[in-house]
Amino acid sequence: METEEEMCSHARSALAKRKTLEEIDIHSVDASSDNELGHEAIKDHFADAYNNVADKSSSRGNAKIASILMKKLGYTDEEMRIIGSDANLMQGTGNPHIAANIQVGEVVVDLGSGFGVDAFVAADKVGESGKIIGIDISRSEVDISQKRSIDRGLENIVTFREGDIEDIPLRDSYADCVISNGGFCLVPDKIKAFTEIFRVLKPGGRMSICCTTNRVELPKDVDWPVCMNVFMKLNDIEPMLKKIGFTDIKIDLSNSRMDLWDLEALDVQEEISNLDSKEREKYTREAYEKRKEDSSVHSGSERFQHLEGFDMNELCARVVITAKKNHEKIRTNSSFNQLVRSNMPNLRYPILDNNLDKKYYSEKEWMEAITKSKVIFFGERHNNSVIIDSQMRVLLEISDFAKYRGLRGDGSGNVSLVMEQFITPDQQDELDNFISTGIPSGKMKDMGGFEWEKYCKLCNLAYELGNVKIYAGFPSRTKAVSTVVRDGYQKGLLQAIEEGSMKTSQDYIPGSEEHYNVFESMISGRNLNSSDNPTDDYRRIFPAQILKDCVISRVVSDRILSGDSVMCLTGHGHTDFLFGIPERVIQFHPQKFDFCTISCAGEDENNVENLNGQIIADMILEIN
Ligand SMILES: C[S@@+](CC[C@H](N)C(=O)[O-])C[C@H]1O[C@@H](n2cnc3c(N)ncnc32)[C@H](O)[C@@H]1O
Repeated sequence: METEEEMCSHARSALAKRKTLEEIDIHSVDASSDNELGHEAIKDHFADAYNNVADKSSSRGNAKIASILMKKLGYTDEEMRIIGSDANLMQGTGNPHIAANIQVGEVVVDLGSGFGVDAFVAADKVGESGKIIGIDISRSEVDISQKRSIDRGLENIVTFREGDIEDIPLRDSYADCVISNGGFCLVPDKIKAFTEIFRVLKPGGRMSICCTTNRVELPKDVDWPVCMNVFMKLNDIEPMLKKIGFTDIKIDLSNSRMDLWDLEALDVQEEISNLDSKEREKYTREAYEKRKEDSSVHSGSERFQHLEGFDMNELCARVVITAKKNHEKIRTNSSFNQLVRSNMPNLRYPILDNNLDKKYYSEKEWMEAITKSKVIFFGERHNNSVIIDSQMRVLLEISDFAKYRGLRGDGSGNVSLVMEQFITPDQQDELDNFISTGIPSGKMKDMGGFEWEKYCKLCNLAYELGNVKIYAGFPSRTKAVSTVVRDGYQKGLLQAIEEGSMKTSQDYIPGSEEHYNVFESMISGRNLNSSDNPTDDYRRIFPAQILKDCVISRVVSDRILSGDSVMCLTGHGHTDFLFGIPERVIQFHPQKFDFCTISCAGEDENNVENLNGQIIADMILEIN
């Protein structure tokens, strides 16, 4: 569930200052003017009108007939099954889902969500790992849809909140996709509203907006309903979106006729004839007109009788507007990103070559490593801020490149930052919450022995970049050690499977003698270059370390398969010797893949903090 803090304070105050309808005569307002007061009055008008629709929602039409109409808009059988009897609560102008192409795990915002019909369809598409926020200016509709979400058992995925599309109560770069169905047309300031969508979309995010537009300039001497006065002109849309920075703009007019809901259509007539007589009465032309008058925003039809002479298809068109938020713009938009970038240019990545002669990698070589690798294993020195800086630098580049891969269609567009040791499993929720809200909880002060103060800038960057997820809550070494050491590795393995951190015992790949040799030397302090043999003192602990490596390797491997770019922070033993996680990820992949390992140390291993921004990195790039 999202937090109050996600709501911008200016949006809260904007809602609070809205005037009530009694204070303003809506019909005296010129919607085409730039008059702020006029705009506020229009929004009040719609809020009140839709509160009224909500009050009468229980007497709305017939779900079967609504389903016929929605299928004409391209809703699939599966989507109609999900919508079920809520179909008669649908008030949209089109079908945003075809172009939105919502994916598992995405964050979707539905603007002018009404009774939540499209939000519930979207919830099915994003699944449990995703999130839907419906925003609507009508308090009553928000209350009803929030209740429907609970009734449907979706309260952890779908939430509704009162808000204005011109002032969306969500933080920057929040959503993968913004949809709207019939709400956007009613917003008086379209530039403000599109700019808001641009703001809340993540870099690379997209929108699919169904709305009604005016094909022509409406004659000034006619009394038009408020909604028609606020529809935007069809020809204005593309230049407006380009100016804001949207790319890939499409305006789909393929289903644009205004008489879609024609009760005289044969298929609708057939469905009506199958209704029982009481229900059928609802669909006489008179009953239909009466219901429309009572419960629709186009109130006062008598006042608009003069419009009957106009052909609505000539005046208006229903459209689906799709566009993307460009990555490059965002790269320079985020002040945090800029701060990181401006602090980074001096951070060099030297290499310690085999002869211990220092050589510096060029920017080009780094970019080659980052762009070619499916996974970058980055050796850690715990709590070392110089190394964390360089991890940030690499993460920033990986994130940008992942977005590009996503656009190019050869990746998910996302980055998985897998951290071997950072937090314990029970802290993963806290971390997830931080990555989606940017707000740390009190519990994050001490994350599994890592100093949050040192690592928060890396996590902050992950939040800012918008396409990074951190996987870190693995069984800690000590937990695995106690089970494996006490009861043997088989028991530890079963425990990992029970916990769900390992799928099958096949995922357990035992450690080699060479690995034990290094492992033992790290604990005992034995010089690896000496002729001394390793002791057997740590043989019982060793499988515990291996078990953890296997669990993490499986996660890294799954993230590669999902199309993410992966950065894996491991103890430097993994990158110095390629044992542990890299070794297993390679084995989990039947096909060879490009990867890179970066081992970091200071010139003086014990004094890395005093390097003035320089670290020694031993980079191995394995490209097929
Ligand atoms: C035609 S209804 C569509 C509802 C819903 N999307 C559907 O398809 O059933 C338009 C919705 O937009 C909402 N709305 C109008 N102006 C709005 C604004 N400025 N901000 C947020 N919602 C608004 C109304 O309250 C209403 O629920």
